[in-house]
Amino acid sequence: MTKKEFPFSEKAVAVYFNAAFTFLDSIIDRSASVIITDRNIFNLYQQKFTGWRTVVIPSGEEHKQQSTIDFIIQQLIELEADRNTFIVGIGGGVVTDIAGYAAGVYMRGLKFGFIPTTILAMVDAAIGGKNGVDAGIYKNLVGLIRQPEFLFYDYSFLETLPREEWVNGFAEIIKHACIKDEVLFEALESHSLDSYMKDKDLIAALVEKNAGIKFAVVLGDEFETGERKLLNFGHTYGHAIENVYHLPHGHAVSLGIVKALKISGEINNFSSTESKRVMDVLQKYSLPVNLQVDSQSVFSILKMDKKRSKNEINYILMDKIGKAVIRSISFTQLEKLIKENI
Ligand SMILES: NC(=O)c1ccc[n+]([C@@H]2O[C@H](COP(=O)([O-])OP(=O)(O)OC[C@H]3O[C@@H](n4cnc5c(N)ncnc54)[C@H](O)[C@@H]3O)[C@@H](O)[C@H]2O)c1
Repeated sequence: MTKKEFPFSEKAVAVYFNAAFTFLDSIIDRSASVIITDRNIFNLYQQKFTGWRTVVIPSGEEHKQQSTIDFIIQQLIELEADRNTFIVGIGGGVVTDIAGYAAGVYMRGLKFGFIPTTILAMVDAAIGGKNGVDAGIYKNLVGLIRQPEFLFYDYSFLETLPREEWVNGFAEIIKHACIKDEVLFEALESHSLDSYMKDKDLIAALVEKNAGIKFAVVLGDEFETGERKLLNFGHTYGHAIENVYHLPHGHAVSLGIVKALKISGEINNFSSTESKRVMDVLQKYSLPVNLQVDSQSVFSILKMDKKRSKNEINYILMDKIGKAVIRSISFTQLEKLIKENI
C-alpha cells in the first residue's frame, strides 16, 4: 500500500493506493461509521460488510435522484447517526456521488471517505469533491463541492467488475490522455483492454497515473474557474444524450468525444489524422463512435448545461493529442454544428 496526500484548500485528502479492505479498520472507527453502497456491491461482498452498519441503495444511474438521498437520510435517522458519524461510500460513481452528497447535507455535513469500485470511479468520479444527483434527465444538476477525508483503492473489487464497466471507465482514461498526456495516449494505443483486465500491476499503474492526472487538474483549479473545465471534454454533448438515450456514461462520453473531435476539426484546425487516431483508440476499447440522435432535442438539453452562460457555452476542443483548449461557442453556432451533424 502507498499513501499520498493531496492538499485541497478545505483539507488534505489522504489517498491509499493498493490497500486491502481490512485496513479500513485502521483509518476509521467501525462503531461510528455507516457504509453506503449499492445492491450489486452489497450482494457480491456481503461478508466484507459484516459488522459494519450499512445502507444499501438500488444500483443504477436512474436512482441517482433526490429520492435516494431522502431514503438515505431516513436510514441515517433510524441508525441514530449524529454529527460524529463517518460515512463511507463504497461503489461506482453513482454511489460516491450520492454518498458524498448525503454526507454533505445530513446534519449540515458529516465527514466521509470513498472506496471506489469501478474503473470510472477510481480515475474520475471519486476524485475532486463534486457530489450530487440528477434532476430527472438533467445530469448532476443538484449537489455540492466538498472533499472526502480519504480515498481508498482496493483493486480486488475489480475482479467482479463486468467488462462493460471496464469499457465505461476507459472512456475517462482516454479523455485524460487526449487532454493531458500524449505518452499515456500512446500506451493506450499499444496495450488493449484485455491486457489491462488480466494484469493487476498494469491496471494498478494505469489507475494511479489517471487518478494523479485528475488530482493535478482539480488541485490546480479547485472551483472550476479555468483548467478544470478541460475535464468536461466529451461531457457537454455526452451528458445531453446520456439519460435521453439511456446510454452507459462511458458510451455517452465516447460519443461526446467524437462530437468534440468533429467540432475541433471544424473550428480549431484539429487534424483529421489525429482525429482518426482518437477514434481508433475509442473503438479499440469497445467504445461507440456513432449514434443516430434527434439533434433538435439534444440541442435543447445542451442549452441547460451547467457550463453555459446566457448566449454561449464553454466547449472543450482538441488542439493536438495530449492538449485540449477551452473555447466559448455561441448557441447559434453550436446549434448549427449539432444540427449539421458534422
Ligand atoms: N463526481 C464526479 O466528479 C464524477 C465524475 C465522473 C462521473 N461521475 C458520475 O459517475 C457515475 C458513473 O459511475 P460508474 O460508471 O462507476 O457507475 P455505477 O456506480 O452505476 O457502477 C456501474 C455498475 O457497476 C456495478 N459495480 C460497481 N462496482 C462493481 C464491482 N467492483 N463489481 C461488480 N459490479 C460493480 C454497479 O452496481 C453498477 O451496476 C455517473 O453518475 C457520473 O455522473 C461523477
